[in-house]
Amino acid sequence: MCGIVGIVGQKPVAPLIVDALKRLEYRGYDSAGVATIEGGRLDRRRAEGKLVNLEHCIQASPLPGKIGIGHTRWATHGVPNETNAHPHFSGDVAVVHNGIIENFVELRDELAADGYAFYSQTDTEVVAHLVARELKNGLEPEKAAFAALKRLQGAFALAIMFRNDDNLIVGARNGPPLAVGHGTGEMYLGSDAIALAPFTDSITYLEDGDWVVLRRSGVSIFNMDGKPVERKMQQSSATAFMVDKGNHRHFMEKEIHEQPEVISHTLAHYVDFANVTVKNFESPIDFARIDRLSISACGTAYLAGLIGKYWFERYARLPVDIDIASEFRYREMPISKNSAAMFVSQSGETADTLASLRYCKNEGVPIASIVNVRDSTIARESNGIFPTLAGPEIGVASTKAFTCQLSIFASLAVRAGLDRGTLTKDQASTLIRELSEVPRLVREASKLEDKIEKIARKLSEVRHVLYLGRDTSYPLAMEGALKLKEISYIHAEGYAAGELKHGPIALIDKHMPVIVIAPYDRIFEKTVSNMQEVAARGGQIILITDEEGASRASLGDIETIIMPKVPEFVTPIVYALPIQLLAYHTAVAMGTDVDQPRNLAKSVTVE
Ligand code: F6R
Repeated sequence: MCGIVGIVGQKPVAPLIVDALKRLEYRGYDSAGVATIEGGRLDRRRAEGKLVNLEHCIQASPLPGKIGIGHTRWATHGVPNETNAHPHFSGDVAVVHNGIIENFVELRDELAADGYAFYSQTDTEVVAHLVARELKNGLEPEKAAFAALKRLQGAFALAIMFRNDDNLIVGARNGPPLAVGHGTGEMYLGSDAIALAPFTDSITYLEDGDWVVLRRSGVSIFNMDGKPVERKMQQSSATAFMVDKGNHRHFMEKEIHEQPEVISHTLAHYVDFANVTVKNFESPIDFARIDRLSISACGTAYLAGLIGKYWFERYARLPVDIDIASEFRYREMPISKNSAAMFVSQSGETADTLASLRYCKNEGVPIASIVNVRDSTIARESNGIFPTLAGPEIGVASTKAFTCQLSIFASLAVRAGLDRGTLTKDQASTLIRELSEVPRLVREASKLEDKIEKIARKLSEVRHVLYLGRDTSYPLAMEGALKLKEISYIHAEGYAAGELKHGPIALIDKHMPVIVIAPYDRIFEKTVSNMQEVAARGGQIILITDEEGASRASLGDIETIIMPKVPEFVTPIVYALPIQLLAYHTAVAMGTDVDQPRNLAKSVTVE
C-alpha cells in the first residue's frame, strides 16, 4: 500500500517519477504527489484521486528539477484529499512514506509542543518535522534523517529529500519493501523493481532496519546502529513493458480470460504428466516426514489455502492448520518440530503474511511459499518458493493468481500423497490426468459468459447475496462472496451449506438471492436439501452445477448455470470461473471501478 519513487538523476525527473508511479498505482490510488528541487527551491504538485489527476496538474504547471520523490497513496491516517497527499514538507525537508508510524500521536504532541504546526491528518508529517527539527539543531542532513528514524515505531518505507542538497535522497525500510536501483550517474529508489524497470535492472533490496543514502555517484547502506552494511546487487527480471488491457474493457476481464493459458503454464511447470509425478519440486518441505502443515495467508490467497487443506488432508492424509495471517501472527500457536509452514501471497508483500512467516521461521520449521512475484519479500525470506506462473495481476480483485495457487496446491497434494504412500501410482495418475483437463474445462466454462452476464444484470439490483457450498465448494462460496462485495459493493456472505440452518436461514426471503455451488458429487444430495430449505422460504436460488446436478435438483423454475462435467478433484479450479464472471459482470452492470475498487489496494503492506 502506497508506492514510493525517488530519483537522483541527470535530467528532469518529474515525468519519470509519474511514469514509475503508474507502475505502482496497484499499491494505492486515492491521491498522488511529486516533489522536486530546482535552483535551491523545493516544490511539489499533489492531486486527489487517480494518478491521471496528478499528471494533468504537472502538465498544467510543470515541475522542473533533476532530483525528486513521488508517492501514490492508500490512505491510513487522514481522508484521501490533496492536503493529506504526500510529499509532506517541513521547512527544508520533503518526505514520502508507506506504512504506519505507530507512535505518531506521541510524536505529534511532542512536536506541537515544540511549535511545529500540522497541516495534514497524516502520521507522515511527524517524520518531516522530526527531520527538520534535527536539521535546525545543527545536524547534517544524513545524520538528521538517521536521528529521526531512530524515533519511529511501526512499519514504514520512507524517502526523504533536503532543499539544500540536490544530490541526496535518504531512504529507509522497516517493514514495507524498498528497493534501490543502480544507474549510471543516476540512482533510484522504489517500492518495487517493476517501478524501476524502465530505468535499470540492477537492484538492491533493502532489509528491515536498513537506511540508505543515495547520491548520483552511488549508494551507502546502513543499519540502525549507523554501521555500514553490505546488501547484494541483483539483476531484476521485472519487465519494463507496461502491461495493457488488450481488447478487454478491464484488466480483471483480461485476467479472467487468461486463466486457461496461465493455469496450463503453471501445471506444465510442476506436473510431469508423462511420468506421473510433480517436478520442479525444490521444496524445503519433505512431505513424507512432516506430521502437520500450517498454511497462512490473507483474503483470496487464504481461501486458496483452505481448499489446499481439503486436498492435503484427503489425498495425502496430512493434517493442515489453516489460518488468516492477521490472526495467526498473534495467536502464539505452538509449532511442532515435525511440521512445516506454507504461505500464499500473490504480491509476496502482504504484511500479515510476512509477519506470520517470520514467526514460523523463528520457530525453526521449513518454510515454502506460493507467490506470484518472485522478487518479493515473502519469496526472499522463504526457504523455498513455488512460483505461480500467472504473469502480472493488475486488477485489484485476484482471479488468475487464485486459480494458479489452486493448481499448485493440487499438484503438491498429489506429490505429498505419493511421498507419504497414501496414493498409489494409479490413483496419482488418475488425479494428474484430471489436472491436465483443467485448462480445457476452464475454457469451456468461459463459454457460459453470456448467460452469466444476464444473471449478473439481475444481481446488480439487489443489496445482499448469500453463497453456499459444501466441501471444496465452501471456500469457493466464500471466494464468490468476497469477489462480489469487493468490486460491486453488494453485501455478500459465503457459508458452508450445512451451516445454513444454524443462523443465516433467518435472512432468507424472496429478496435474497442464494448462489449455490453444487457440482454433482457424492454430497450433492446434502446440498439439495439445503436448497429445498431456501426454496421453501421463497429465496431465489441461482444454482451452479453440471447437467447431472441440474436434472437431479428438481427444484422447479430456478436459475441454473450448467457447467461442463468436471472431475471432483479439480472442481474448485474450474468453478472459480463462473464465480469470477458473476462478480465481474455485476460490477460492470453497476458501473463501479472494477480494476481499482474503492478503498482497496493490490498490495497490503500494512497490518
Ligand atoms: C481479493 C484479493 C485479496 C488478496 C489479499 C492477499 O480479490 O485480491 O483478498 O488475496 O489481499 O494478497 P496477497 O495474495 O498479495 O498476499
